[in-house]
Amino acid sequence: MLRGVVQEKQGTRVLDGLDVTLPGGEVTALVGPSGAGKTSLLRLLNRLDDPTAGTVLFRGRPVAGYPVRELRRRVGFVFQAPVMFPGTVADNLRAAVALAGPGEAPVAADERWVAGLLESVELDPAYAPRDTEHLSGGEKQRVALARALATRPEVLLLDEPTAALDPEVAERLMSTIVRVAADSGRTVVMVTHRLAEARDFTTHTVMMEAGRLVEAGPTRALFERATHERTRAYLASA
Ligand SMILES: Nc1ncnc2c1ncn2[C@@H]1O[C@H](COP(=O)(O)OP(=O)(O)O)[C@@H](O)[C@H]1O
Ligand SMILES: [Mg+2]
Repeated sequence: MLRGVVQEKQGTRVLDGLDVTLPGGEVTALVGPSGAGKTSLLRLLNRLDDPTAGTVLFRGRPVAGYPVRELRRRVGFVFQAPVMFPGTVADNLRAAVALAGPGEAPVAADERWVAGLLESVELDPAYAPRDTEHLSGGEKQRVALARALATRPEVLLLDEPTAALDPEVAERLMSTIVRVAADSGRTVVMVTHRLAEARDFTTHTVMMEAGRLVEAGPTRALFERATHERTRAYLASA
């Protein structure tokens, strides 16, 4: 939840008094034209950035009150272009756990755990010893997803996770993301410019423009009868 959030970057107001609620247990699409501030918003949720003014709340508490490592353990992030740590697929998954520090329920990052994580993102466990350097874009993004899931986060943030992929690969990855969310009642917030993806795979939609909230609500309602002309025009461009 964001309350009166202002974010300035190099003197420009990129978020301009934003109030947004991201409902727990739902898959939310964050949509709006390029430059609307979608990535800027997402980055505030696990404190990759802090706002200039206003409050970001997670489970009713300001995110600034959580130790950063705890917050990042509980709120995972997948970027548009998958960034792999050098080494194997298994190295990448173990690194996520090592970086997050011991949580309340420490995970034993053994071979079975690696295999289980890979299966959860529909990658064959035989990928574990492979060097990430030689994976395809879609495979890397699945490893990035598995890595984000390694700490069993309650919230998963995804910034245009399918933008760099072919439509077919993108659609399969979306199905995986939605299944992973549904499996665990996890909250998912996904930025996407593929509007069909928002329409078909999410339950809640937040429309932003110029650093402000335009409109938010159940995905079907927004796509079928948006209240605001700007939302209608944007969604019609799908
Ligand atoms: N590090 C930065 N420094 C200055 N301006 C930035 C920076 N990051 C983003 N911006 C600007 O902030 C605005 C919002 O960017 P962003 O959150 O990336 O939008 P979106 O993800 O919706 O395309 C844009 O006008 C962008 O140029
Ligand atoms: Mg962006």
